[in-house]
Amino acid sequence: MEEQLIRAAFHARQHAYTPYSHFRVGAALLSADGTIIEGCNIENATYGATNCAERTAFFKAVSEGIREFRMIAIVGGVEQGSDRVSDFAYPCGICRQVMREFCDPKSFKVIVAKSVEDYEVYALEDLLPNSFGPSNLLM
Ligand code: THU
Repeated sequence: MEEQLIRAAFHARQHAYTPYSHFRVGAALLSADGTIIEGCNIENATYGATNCAERTAFFKAVSEGIREFRMIAIVGGVEQGSDRVSDFAYPCGICRQVMREFCDPKSFKVIVAKSVEDYEVYALEDLLPNSFGPSNLLM
């Protein structure tokens, strides 16, 4: 499953809109029912309106009624051919918090990959320890 998700992230990366940074990122999000939702980063002339690949995938899914997720694969950075990048692209803080809104920190897995053979897997709670989430607002 990890390999399939990484391949989907490389596919999504092809659609990255990055005229400013030229830093192309692709993400592939696996829902609880096995659907793969792809996302790319989408930059903006104002810079601040830029959307990361991970959030594109999450917002696509949630806006289609999908709210339960198992893992996400992320690929980004300097290209070394069509299926390899030079470094791991770890998700930014805002994207980690968006993951936290919909995912269980212990069981949701974040894969950062350079290729289908070279990747790391983290639990969300390792990337966002002591997090604030929906349950903190329950009275
Ligand atoms: N970016 C992502 O898509 N995901 C991340 O987690 C980090 C950053 C994008 C945003 C921007 O288009 C470019 O990478 C440089 O920051």
